[in-house]
Amino acid sequence: MSERIAHPGLRAKVMSAHDAAAKIAPGDQIGFSGFTGAGYPKEVPTALAERIKEAHQQGREFRVNVLTGASTAPELDGVLAETGGVNWRMPYQSDPRLRDKINDGTTFYSDIHLSHSGMMTSQGFFGPVDAAVVEAVKINADGSIVPSSSVGNSVNYLDAAEKIIIEVNEWQSLGLEGMHDIWRVGLPPHRQPIPITTPGQRIGSASINIDVDKVVAVVRTNAPDRNSPFKSIDQTSKDIAGHLLEFARHEITQGRLTNELRPLQSGVGNIANAVLAGLLESEFENLTSYTEVIQDGMVDLLDSGKMALASATSFALSPEAAERMNNDAERYAKKLILRPQEVSNHPEVIRRLGVIATNGMIEADIYGNVNSTHIMGSRMMNGLGGSGDFTRNAYISIFVSPSIAKNGDISAIVPMVSHHDHTEHDVQVIITEQGLADLRGLAPRQRARVIIDKCAHPSFRPMLTEYLERAEALGVGMHTPHDLAQAHSWHRRFLDTGSMRP
Ligand code: COA
Repeated sequence: MSERIAHPGLRAKVMSAHDAAAKIAPGDQIGFSGFTGAGYPKEVPTALAERIKEAHQQGREFRVNVLTGASTAPELDGVLAETGGVNWRMPYQSDPRLRDKINDGTTFYSDIHLSHSGMMTSQGFFGPVDAAVVEAVKINADGSIVPSSSVGNSVNYLDAAEKIIIEVNEWQSLGLEGMHDIWRVGLPPHRQPIPITTPGQRIGSASINIDVDKVVAVVRTNAPDRNSPFKSIDQTSKDIAGHLLEFARHEITQGRLTNELRPLQSGVGNIANAVLAGLLESEFENLTSYTEVIQDGMVDLLDSGKMALASATSFALSPEAAERMNNDAERYAKKLILRPQEVSNHPEVIRRLGVIATNGMIEADIYGNVNSTHIMGSRMMNGLGGSGDFTRNAYISIFVSPSIAKNGDISAIVPMVSHHDHTEHDVQVIITEQGLADLRGLAPRQRARVIIDKCAHPSFRPMLTEYLERAEALGVGMHTPHDLAQAHSWHRRFLDTGSMRP
């Protein structure tokens, strides 16, 4: 135990998850560690869920606000959502049970840019943080903690919280020590430039210093991280990756990129992972990454030597890749850096490094506006995540998606998006399996024709052209022509009939 909990005072605070959860009161606002299925506390949330259920059975109100780095796992978001006791949740989620609670109105959800979420907490915009519950690999003799497989917003939550609960997870490899780079962005007017000029640069410390007097409990756990495995890479994903690589080659011939490309950011999801797999087969060498999550595809790139190093805030690894990482963490720590998400997603650094950002989308419209989050304008899928942080500030911003969803009943290219996450001003390239639309320097009507021709599925292309021509004929304005009476008719038709097709 002294290897994992070297601070004697904190060793004396070891207790069960049940006793630790008893320190949390109804109405508390809790900042949890965790980002994707990595580095989230494994036992206290379940113990808290049991308390909430018990209270509800006795007719007592018990709801809490849940703040995290991003999505977590069934042992956090899932168990808490199931109780109906999550009042407010931010900044990102992808758990099916929590998604249901958000969409049935039980839980209020603020979908916030990930780089803003910790910062806004530190600025006091969401009120006080009653408790921080964070997972650690170990607690050092000076009380500082070595985070585990993600850093996320832990620094902000630990700094802001009135009380701290630490889960020390023995499943997490001690080899992770040295992989983290903790740097506090701080508050205005004392903020300084973040001195990162290359993705691999370390600027901070390997552990998070905390106020040990705030620690009310330490819980020992031994449980794996949990991410869903990725879907197998199908032909559609391979085609999307192929178009992206062709685009990169074109940029090299134009002198705008070199064979090392620029630091890559790759979003969450199956398509983004497939794009990374495409890079593995490519001729590009000495790649780097300044991103948010390390997915399987990136670990493969590191293993193959194609990628020299990667900077992120978290892993998002399949169970197999997580095992690989855990067995060899010390070696990976030489090539991987995990930073607070306020730094990994910081606009200043993304812009300085000239990151190539590639993210998934739900739908784009003919003018290049992108919806990453909402199904038919109303139902929350996951959230915006870091896609806005990277897209707005990227050297080249790219969105990828299959051109159709749900067996062809839904077109990913629509007349007008049913929800806006990324505006036409931020979106430079759209790729589907059909092709690539390079929107840089194009005016809206030019963009529309390129998106329809290159990205739309052939079965929807004539309908999109017809919409555009009808909107132009209305003569309301020739800059961004719309037929407002029909702009969302495809979505309405899907809701009425189950298909966007007439
Ligand atoms: N309408 C309805 N459903 C749609 C849809 C649309 N226009 N487009 C996709 N979907 C559904 C798919 O059918 C699929 O459903 P299933 O899980 O039931 O099969 C699901 O959405 C995921 O789609 P998939 O094509 O497998 O893509 P993905 O795994 O790459 O995820 C997003 C795509 C948009 C959901 C995902 O990228 C996301 O959540 N993005 C927002 C956050 C983000 O960009 N983070 C990165 C920052 S670093």
